Amino acid sequence: MNLTEEVRLYGLIGDPVAGSRSPWIHNTVFNELGLKAAYLAFHVEPTRLGASIAGFRAIGMGGFNITIPHKQTVIGHLDGLDPFAEKLGAVNTVAVTPEGLIGYNTDGPGLVSVLRRQIGPIEDKKVLILGAGGAARGIAGSLMYNGVKEVGICNRTWTKADALIRDLEIFGKAHIVDREDFKNYDLVINTTSVGMYPFEDATPVDVKYLKPDAYVCDIVYKPRRTRLIREAEATGHKVVFGIDMLIEQAVLAEQIWFSLSDEQVDRARTLLQTELMKALQPTEGEKK
Ligand code: ATR
Repeated sequence: MNLTEEVRLYGLIGDPVAGSRSPWIHNTVFNELGLKAAYLAFHVEPTRLGASIAGFRAIGMGGFNITIPHKQTVIGHLDGLDPFAEKLGAVNTVAVTPEGLIGYNTDGPGLVSVLRRQIGPIEDKKVLILGAGGAARGIAGSLMYNGVKEVGICNRTWTKADALIRDLEIFGKAHIVDREDFKNYDLVINTTSVGMYPFEDATPVDVKYLKPDAYVCDIVYKPRRTRLIREAEATGHKVVFGIDMLIEQAVLAEQIWFSLSDEQVDRARTLLQTELMKALQPTEGEKK
């Protein structure tokens, strides 16, 4: 990358940011598309969030991402919000515009975009979400915002599922679902960390409880083919990989920051597929 004076800075703020793949993902895309941009990660503790954002404004950053624990508190430092981010009350991407700093959320919308492209319309789907954490909230909210027929939630800790359902009321009515009702759902999305490296032998659900033609999606992307995905494929389910959600979240952020052509967006997706597949291969030390 040639860091001339035309290059604008993009970045991520979070606490922690160590281990984030965002700098690698975005710089890979910037290089591929020949954008005059560079992306860095900034470790910002909560007490320095306001000062950091004021600094970002002052130096004319091109745009930035926000991660834990700032996704909600950042809102008080912005000038406007996209309608979905406003409803969800959480921001992970900020655009620097002539109107000021505008907050967006690409977490759930990334998955919705993948689902639309890979399985078609989602409005007629009953969706079962496994888990009730932050990822479940963004995904359920985005699915409801985009008009899915029904959202069911199943979580190990019942009280957390109940709290999530109340939190989602702004989008509509979600229900708690027990295992005996899993067969009513057309699409099952694992949002828990069960099955994630290094605990690849675990699975959040036995696929025998699912509708035989249900789509199965796992947002865990390391390993790419989790035990849930392997068992779903073996029993004839169509599957959606977590890696595609990761890619789409990043591509949506790029589309917010730059006016990209369809051809550039496709090139970014294809490149990230290839490069992430390589990057997520287990290293010699990780192989069993
Ligand atoms: P995230 O922001 O990634 O969603 P989180 O907010 O910590 O992370 O949520 C993790 C989710 O994975 C929760 O739904 C959690 O279930 P609990 O609410 O019962 O804690 C779920 N989870 C994590 N480990 C699990 C396990 N071993 N079995 C079942 N569910 C698990």
